[in-house]
Amino acid sequence: MNKINEIQKLYNASGVHPTTDPDNPKSQFFVDRYAKHLCKLIQPGMRALDLGCNAGRCTFAMEDMGAITTGIDCAEIPIRHAKTVAHKRKSQCQFNIGDLNSLPYRKNSFDLALFPSNIVEVSYQTLENMTVQLKQILSNNGLFVVFMHDEFIKRAGEATFLDRYDALTGLKGGHNTIPDKGAFFYPTYFWTVAFAKHIIEKHLFCKRVEQVEENLFLLVFCNKK
Ligand SMILES: C[S@@+](CC[C@H](N)C(=O)[O-])C[C@H]1O[C@@H](n2cnc3c(N)ncnc32)[C@H](O)[C@@H]1O
Repeated sequence: MNKINEIQKLYNASGVHPTTDPDNPKSQFFVDRYAKHLCKLIQPGMRALDLGCNAGRCTFAMEDMGAITTGIDCAEIPIRHAKTVAHKRKSQCQFNIGDLNSLPYRKNSFDLALFPSNIVEVSYQTLENMTVQLKQILSNNGLFVVFMHDEFIKRAGEATFLDRYDALTGLKGGHNTIPDKGAFFYPTYFWTVAFAKHIIEKHLFCKRVEQVEENLFLLVFCNKK
């Protein structure tokens, strides 16, 4: 099974809805969760990459904070919508279709890369592949900013969870049902903050880890060349 294809199928089928559409005020709640922390890290003119951008909620938000932004995602439908919104807003945001395992960017292309609550969808190997690439793609002192929840905290006491958990890969079997479109396999992974930090700091310097909500953590890494 190719897990990227499964994710692509799911996000293409779900398309864009009010809560993911950067053009709809109903999507603002998502941006607000991160914006108050992000605006302290973004400086005007910074080149920022939104990893797994979907329809670009965070990509546009970072542009509004003064960054020159690019979003990348493997699902074509949300990316097409993001481009339409960019055109309508006369935004300079760029949107690319691509896989986080092989990012199509040159050395020193960005000063910040954002990964907002997408980590559950990437395998342990993909996070490491991505981090190795970010070491090249980010400028000297460039930042890798991760927002994530800790699955162990989330699942504490949920006994049935173990029925769909694969201890060898961390893969959690699961399905997402989209009305009128059916059930889609939704491969996600068991991530703890400690394990994500462990993988990323093999390649990037860990500047800080902060618990910003009851179960939302902000991890900031820096590229020291
Ligand atoms: C939870 S959504 C993220 C939402 C997005 N950050 C936003 O603000 O709307 C996760 C996104 O990551 C994308 N994604 C997951 N795995 C990917 C991969 N390996 N390569 C590229 N995109 C991926 C999915 O297509 C999906 O759009």
